[in-house]
Amino acid sequence: MNTGNEIELRTATIDDLAAIFHLGDKVFTSQEFSNLYRTWDEYEVTHLFNSEAEYVLVAAVEGKVVGFAMGTIIEKHRSAWNYGHLLWLGVDPDYARKHIGSMLFERFHEIMEAEGIRMLMVDTQADNKPAIKFFKRKGFANPTKHVYMTLNLNKDG
Ligand SMILES: CC(C)(COP(=O)(O)OP(=O)(O)OC[C@H]1O[C@@H](n2cnc3c(N)ncnc32)[C@H](O)[C@@H]1OP(=O)(O)O)[C@@H](O)C(=O)NCCC(=O)NCCS
Repeated sequence: MNTGNEIELRTATIDDLAAIFHLGDKVFTSQEFSNLYRTWDEYEVTHLFNSEAEYVLVAAVEGKVVGFAMGTIIEKHRSAWNYGHLLWLGVDPDYARKHIGSMLFERFHEIMEAEGIRMLMVDTQADNKPAIKFFKRKGFANPTKHVYMTLNLNKDG
């Protein structure tokens, strides 16, 4: 397995989008498939790439995308603080626990710092224990639980 120095970390190009999408399909199980207000699909990948390509990062080994991070900046009305939101972070299970997620996160962190961001946020399902452990290791604190409800408007459903 190739790891260590052979991992290339860079911003994504248009040629990476299909690989990012398929890797996301693999790593986001039905529970992590959507977060509070976003869903993993082709549109999400292309939309983030079109709007904030500088915050779409990939980790590649021998040209193969094995991890990615995608984020956005949230400008809070009437607040001096802008937030950096790491929306999606995924690492190929074949390359898990080799600090690829850490490398992606740290690069995202550096980019956000360079943008003058003073607060980062992440969200994931409450039962996604590996991700919560990962983010706690990165210094995230104060996990807050939200209740997320749905109402089926399909009368036939
Ligand atoms: C969460 C995720 C990105 C971690 O990627 P990774 O490259 O395997 O993580 P790293 O190797 O950098 O791990 C850093 C630390 O996080 C913690 N960690 C990572 N994966 C873990 C797991 N499965 N179980 C427990 N702790 C874990 C460990 O403390 C680890 O340090 P260690 O290996 O020295 O003990 C990856 O598991 C993943 O893609 N999960 C599915 C998608 C997801 O939930 N994304 C986050 C929400 S968008």
